[in-house]
Amino acid sequence: MLLAGIFLKCNHNHTFTVSPETRYPVLRDRNFFIETYGCQMNFADSEIVNSIMVDRGMKPTDTPDDASVVFINTCSIRDNAEQKVWNRLNHFRSLKKKRNGDMVIGVLGCMAERLREKFLEKEKLVDIVVGPDAYRDIPKLLAEVEDGRKAVNVILSQEETYADITPVRTTGNGVSAFVSVMRGCDNMCSFCVVPFTRGRERSRPVESVIDEFQQLSDAGYKEVTLLGQNVNSYNHNGRDFAELMYRCSLINPEMRIRFSTSHPKDFPDEFLHVMRERHNVCNYIHIPVQSGNNTVLERMKRPYTREAYLELIDKMRSMIPGVSLSTDIIAGFCGETEEQHEETLDIIERVRYDMAYMFAYSERERTLAHRKYEDDVPEEVKKRRLSEIISLQHGIAAELNQQEIGRRHIVLAEGTSKRSEDQLSGRTDTNKMVIFDKGVCKAGDYVEVEIFDATSATLKGKALSKVLLSDTSPFPAVAL
Ligand code: SAH
Ligand code: SF4
Ligand code: F3S
Repeated sequence: MLLAGIFLKCNHNHTFTVSPETRYPVLRDRNFFIETYGCQMNFADSEIVNSIMVDRGMKPTDTPDDASVVFINTCSIRDNAEQKVWNRLNHFRSLKKKRNGDMVIGVLGCMAERLREKFLEKEKLVDIVVGPDAYRDIPKLLAEVEDGRKAVNVILSQEETYADITPVRTTGNGVSAFVSVMRGCDNMCSFCVVPFTRGRERSRPVESVIDEFQQLSDAGYKEVTLLGQNVNSYNHNGRDFAELMYRCSLINPEMRIRFSTSHPKDFPDEFLHVMRERHNVCNYIHIPVQSGNNTVLERMKRPYTREAYLELIDKMRSMIPGVSLSTDIIAGFCGETEEQHEETLDIIERVRYDMAYMFAYSERERTLAHRKYEDDVPEEVKKRRLSEIISLQHGIAAELNQQEIGRRHIVLAEGTSKRSEDQLSGRTDTNKMVIFDKGVCKAGDYVEVEIFDATSATLKGKALSKVLLSDTSPFPAVAL
């Protein structure tokens, strides 16, 4: 406690220490609630905030109804993501009114960074605004609020990785966890607000990632997803993502590793070698294409062509037999013609993704596209193109999943299925969701499962036996 405290000098020149709890007495024993929107990194950040709050003696609760402090960790990626947050804020504000103002409302994350003081000016009932690099400051900001002031810190950092903070995972399943390995993004894709809300790219030291991984292993976790906006550009003192992944994969042969997200511009061969060699690195790659047309890709500032992308996919498939692939696609980017849209449909057909996240383009302030291009594809055309993309992709996913019938997979059971108490749900190495009867299995077990039914989103299987991951092949399904 001595180390964690800060040293103060009083008038009589006595030095004494103040523990974090005494520094902010107001926080002790109060409940706090965090609601999170956006990407996996935002969810991982909420666990960092949990840790900071718990460290100050506050208690996490799973409902805003009995919380003294309510945080909303927000996303700015598209306008509809922000609209959801506004709706929730309205709800929290009515809660606060019912309690005669006795509740602190804080906005965290990307919207906090993007809109800053506007929250305090326009939305009088927000008390605290904290950007993604300023979470260490939350206890101090809360103390300011108690003193009757509104508090803001949206300073972005070139160094902050929260490497020394052990996340407190209150909402997970105890089986799989996220670990952020880098923050920020330097890619400046012309449509994207992330470089403005998250700041410059920086990587966390290898050792701190390994330590957290080891702690998760000791705590019984069975799967870790390493996170970054572009994990392939992970670099800490010359150590790259392939090395980080390799070292993580040696920690516990019974723990699976996933990663997200990869950028097609710099996917290294070495990394594919690690995936190929290590049985516990999952054979699933999320590799956003965004568009299938070269002119659109250029305007998006995505520095690859459709040809280079397709070559990369071929290489992935030849090096990792049975690898599963997913992508992100934007419909109706500035200036996109009908022919260019057709090329996106065409690349979807060529690659045949197992899964895709598909969006209509939403203009974001400050981005290059906002400054330089006109958002000129009419809303109904964007919607129509998006629905063509979605129905094509769903058809492909359904066909691919039908082909799974009769195959066997190693599934990591994550928990009881939402549909039935007697069933477990979990994912294959290739990231497909499988539902199967519990039998003697429980969350955290690896189970060999034979698939007997499929929709475009889920597989149904029959559990054959519990297995050790280390006894299985490094390749999915095919080698079983
Ligand atoms: N760093 C990740 C993506 C993070 S954002 C990567 O580069 O792969 C997730 C996805 O949201 C993006 O891949 C993109 O498809 C989509 N997206 C980002 N900005 C958008 C915008 N302005 N309008 C619509 N979709 C957008
Ligand atoms: Fe946004 Fe591009 Fe960075 Fe992804 S790589 S976060 S799309 S700027
Ligand atoms: Fe959204 Fe910020 Fe993530 S804008 S997608 S929460 S980095």
